[in-house]
Amino acid sequence: MRCKFCKEEAYITLSHPRMPLCKEHFIEYFERRVKRTIERYNLLKEDERILVAMSGGKDSAVLSYVLKKFNYPIHCFYINLGIEGYSDRCEEYVKRQCEMIDAPLYVVRIRELLGAGVGEVKISRPTCSYCGTTKRYISNKFAYDNKFDVVVTGHNLDDEASFIFSNVLYWNTQYLAKQGPLLPGEGKFVKRVKPLYETPESEIAAYASAVGIEYTGEVCPYAKGAITLTYKEFFNHLEKRRPGIKIRFVRGFLKKRHLFEGEVRRGEVKECKICGMPSGGEVCSFCRIWGLKEPVDLTIK
Ligand code: FES
Ligand code: ZN
Ligand code: ZN
Repeated sequence: MRCKFCKEEAYITLSHPRMPLCKEHFIEYFERRVKRTIERYNLLKEDERILVAMSGGKDSAVLSYVLKKFNYPIHCFYINLGIEGYSDRCEEYVKRQCEMIDAPLYVVRIRELLGAGVGEVKISRPTCSYCGTTKRYISNKFAYDNKFDVVVTGHNLDDEASFIFSNVLYWNTQYLAKQGPLLPGEGKFVKRVKPLYETPESEIAAYASAVGIEYTGEVCPYAKGAITLTYKEFFNHLEKRRPGIKIRFVRGFLKKRHLFEGEVRRGEVKECKICGMPSGGEVCSFCRIWGLKEPVDLTIK
């Protein structure tokens, strides 16, 4: 196969729009789409202080690389969850990625901060669920305490399609109403954005190897067998038979999202009496999960 634009040998054949591209033209195409997503959804503004949430995986590695290439003055952030072996290996990748792009990196270690790792807390909630709460809380509080304007995450098209699909399956309409490439900031909630919202996972992996980014392919031990992985496989099957179905599903959802707006439970937002961050009840779920008596201090020293 030859590249559609220059007739060099193809590096990849995209499924939608269907076209073979050489390495150089694929890199150009990939970056243009990220730029278009940022512009289309108005994700980042000039002179915002940007914090990129890193994981050691390909999505955040590629995202930070591309944002740096676009000359955004990014800062990177990694939460070491204290998961035996896995978290330290991921941290090593994050360090190398940040050195490669010459971006400052802040690391928060859960074990040092909270006295235990994720997976070691005795509560009835599944590990992945309270891990998600922990990551969202810490990235938001870190950004808020250190005056960042926006938290950028590496969620990609496959993540979004499977998230929307699972919430449709269970009719979690209040989650659907709040889902999208941009969650605006409000009070102590810092704005969150997803510049890879329209980029398929397979192309992120192809971009990473095209530009020489190393990342961990390891899956978190608690995520093994997670149903979201099955949803992703399911979408990949569908995509093979109906190229473009993922992006149509996600864009179609954004057009219809207003239909779910009435579903958002607008309870009073209180301040957690331990940490002062927004909370539905007296004590926020983060302080409850970790049994805190005092707020965690995340200011950069
Ligand atoms: Fe949170 Fe696996 S990364 S439980
Ligand atoms: Zn070409
Ligand atoms: Zn709290």
